[in-house]
Amino acid sequence: MEHDSEERYATAMPSYCAFLGHQPHISIAELSAAIPDFRMKKVLGSSVLLFESKSDIKTAELNTLGGTVAIARKIEPDVTTLDDVPDTLWKEVKGVTGKITFGLRAYNVPPARVHDLYRRCKGALKDHGRASRYVGTERTPAASVLLQDTGLLDGSHGCEIVLLRDDDTLWIGRTVAAQDVNAYAKRDMGKPVRDTRIGLLPPKLAQILLNFGHWLARGTVGNAASLTVFDPFCGTGVIPMECLLRRWNVLACDLSLKAANGCEKNLDWIRKEHDILKKDVWSEVWKQDARKPFELKKKPDVIVTESTLGPTLEKPAALRLAQTLKAEGEELQEEFLRNVAATLPGVPVAAMWPVWFTSKGTVRLEKVWDRLHTLGFRVAIPAAVDLEITGRPTLLYRRPGQYVGREIILLQQSKK
Ligand SMILES: C[S@@+](CC[C@H](N)C(=O)[O-])C[C@H]1O[C@@H](n2cnc3c(N)ncnc32)[C@H](O)[C@@H]1O
Repeated sequence: MEHDSEERYATAMPSYCAFLGHQPHISIAELSAAIPDFRMKKVLGSSVLLFESKSDIKTAELNTLGGTVAIARKIEPDVTTLDDVPDTLWKEVKGVTGKITFGLRAYNVPPARVHDLYRRCKGALKDHGRASRYVGTERTPAASVLLQDTGLLDGSHGCEIVLLRDDDTLWIGRTVAAQDVNAYAKRDMGKPVRDTRIGLLPPKLAQILLNFGHWLARGTVGNAASLTVFDPFCGTGVIPMECLLRRWNVLACDLSLKAANGCEKNLDWIRKEHDILKKDVWSEVWKQDARKPFELKKKPDVIVTESTLGPTLEKPAALRLAQTLKAEGEELQEEFLRNVAATLPGVPVAAMWPVWFTSKGTVRLEKVWDRLHTLGFRVAIPAAVDLEITGRPTLLYRRPGQYVGREIILLQQSKK
């Protein structure tokens, strides 16, 4: 494992490990934008990130991060061999009353070794006169819902121990936060208006884009500050819904009246579901062409939006179709950004542009990218972004089997 030359930091900051979602490069960029004092240490394989931060990360913080599945905090003092795990577990759970529940989440530790450890942990707890229950298997850790429901995250009924082996080093921690999968599914599938024709933005990706928006508007200060967000291509409102859940005010418009009405209905629904009162957090939705001057009742702190991606494609786009869609996209984005610079000067933009995957390679917006400076924008990007993925300072989001991807573009305006 890498050792930090600045020992002062290494000892002062708690060490965390993040289990990343299915687009790890975006997850890492999101963490670097959203976690205060984030210091990246090492990526294990492609799915686990070791980092340091002074903040006390719990489930409430994780619930605002779309790209991270679970977070564990290192157990201090260092545990150096797997043989110490039963004793470490006992120290973590001895304050629990009644039957103890525990789990093990391992990376790079053979299942047979995990199985052996589980038996030894159970034995150690028995030696202390305590009955226990194990959640998960030697191959698959317990689902995050189970961790929540069985009181392992807050420590009320036990804990999940995380074991990471890398070369000769061992990192042992306990899970402190895990994504609430059911809550995502509920707001994705349960909302009253869903329009599959305009593509469905996953709530987790909306959260990621909002975290980048927050970073653009406020700098790397974590998720403390409240915002007013504007989504000018709101569709049925996934981004506005996520804003309300964070108690951020939201302005939203769409060229289509049907979409704007759908967004309004979805916002009413999320307000009822989560008791979010208009007097505490306001929202306004209307029909408008994003190329026409914006006359807003309040200047937003940031624009966060997923603009038109064009038709959903079942197979790789023909090059000619991709070129046609690209020409339309270039024009729309340029007119939109020109309008933003003219009528919302200084407001940063976190947007997603389409990328088409054809049998002859990828097609993406280029003309508007080259004109960003002339239009009054400069590109911003969190420190931890791997620039080799798109070849320019942007991030690419693409699920397997998708032929239209999303390129995340983060912009500051040159003039305030
Ligand atoms: C990809 S969808 C956005 C989906 C949205 N994120 C959601 O949660 O449903 C793009 C939206 O942009 C809208 N749109 C297209 N051209 C527009 C324009 N010139 N001004 C404003 N909205 C426009 C479309 O009606 C569509 O609803």
